[in-house]
Amino acid sequence: MPEDSKIQKTINLCVRRGFVFPSAEIYGSFGGFFDYGPAGAELKANVRQSWWRRFVQNREDMLGLDGAVLTHPRIWKASGHVDAFNDPLVQCQKCKHRFRADHLIEQELHESVDGISEAKLNELFKKHKLACPDCKGALSEAKKFNLMFKTSVGATEDNYAYLRPETAQVIFANFKYLQQIGRKALPFGIAQAGRSFRNEISPRNFVFRGREFEQMEIEFFLHPDKLDDCPDFDRISKHKALFCTEADQKTGHTGHEMSFGDAVKKKIIQTRWHAYWLAEALDWFAGLGLTKVRLRQHRSDELSHYAKETWDVEYDYPEWGWKELMGIANRTDFDLLAHAKESGKDMTVFDEATKQKVVPHVIEPSFGLDRLVFTLLLDAFEEKKDAPKAAANEGNSANADGKARKPTTPAVEVKTILHLSPIVAPIKVAVFPLMKKDGLGEKAWDVYTALKKTLPQSVYDESGSIGKRYARQDELGTPYCITVDHQTLEDGTVTLRERDSGGQTRVKMDKIADAIDG
Ligand code: GLY
Repeated sequence: MPEDSKIQKTINLCVRRGFVFPSAEIYGSFGGFFDYGPAGAELKANVRQSWWRRFVQNREDMLGLDGAVLTHPRIWKASGHVDAFNDPLVQCQKCKHRFRADHLIEQELHESVDGISEAKLNELFKKHKLACPDCKGALSEAKKFNLMFKTSVGATEDNYAYLRPETAQVIFANFKYLQQIGRKALPFGIAQAGRSFRNEISPRNFVFRGREFEQMEIEFFLHPDKLDDCPDFDRISKHKALFCTEADQKTGHTGHEMSFGDAVKKKIIQTRWHAYWLAEALDWFAGLGLTKVRLRQHRSDELSHYAKETWDVEYDYPEWGWKELMGIANRTDFDLLAHAKESGKDMTVFDEATKQKVVPHVIEPSFGLDRLVFTLLLDAFEEKKDAPKAAANEGNSANADGKARKPTTPAVEVKTILHLSPIVAPIKVAVFPLMKKDGLGEKAWDVYTALKKTLPQSVYDESGSIGKRYARQDELGTPYCITVDHQTLEDGTVTLRERDSGGQTRVKMDKIADAIDG
């Protein structure tokens, strides 16, 4: 990635300001694993909390779950992950380096081969005489590589377990129990946010494809005959989105703008509940400030083994192009039937309205928290080049003796501003004394400690010039800064500076919280 690309600059900022950085740097890092520093941990917690509030706490039809990460092997036998959760792997016979076969083809031939079979990949390797990119050695045939991490449990190595590769199965395995203790009738959902693990052959694109990541998943359970019986559909049917259908992908088209109502009427999206969840996801993203998105239909040759229909929400990345931010799949009754068969337990629900016992069908909105956090940072990233004052006056400036001043070319100052939504910003407000002396330090500290009671994501900073302190907060995306100065001691007002406009107003100390909220 070139140093001047927006993605690379955002990655540099992530590392420089401690949002997120490669894990175990002191040992040369650990591929595919990342650590979040103070700003990143707060940002991530804010996004997770916003999701949980909207999709769990603010709904009557959702149950929350926080399940185990190490999971029983039979869960993954039943779900199909033991047999089908594979990526194609090739190995260089000379240097022994391993590569993900489809990524290697994409890299060498510049064409997307997502989801195609090993046999077809092998044909392409032969046809184009592809060799190891590192040493030009011959490559092995592509074979399946299972992406689950396996570990042993207890004192014997025979007892093994998997680190969950998706949070979804922990929901399915608990479905009947949660439905009963939650006393929920169809339709209802179960939501879970937590870590998942995939042993990616070649983790890449920073946190975008890591080996340990966090998901926020909903399994929404529906009567199999009522996938169009969505009471809220009228509310969202006029909402519009950019739809990139399978046909669009065949002709290389970005997509067409359409309403959800039309997409369902034209059977582009098969069911109203699927359309509803896509609209809900887009609405939540828009509330966080993300609008450069489209909906891309999974082609029939790339659908996961459990899915009948899937739409990805994709973001238009500056150098990478459109990439998946999240996916919403129609998983039908695949998982519940599979667990019923493997466990011998009943997975039916009695539907009062129809007096039927049914195995529900599932719409699954599955969000990736790490890629969302990175995308929010990237989307919010702006570099502002400030022409220094000397340079601005250069054309008509003169020395005291009237002679033209020797032109100088001062370095252009580059400032980074993160235009993060206040909902997710890691710091909501920073408090500064103009200077430490004259009692301003003590006064500012009092303002800060009072604010912190209601806004815990506040900081106090008294080091460096005011300009430097503003710049420090702009880089972290802090929406508001408050400066305590001599006037504060006289009339109890402070300067409130707004990040995006740079505008400053004087507000009474006891009105700060209102000014920030409003
Ligand atoms: N549960 C869907 C996924 O992890 O991709």
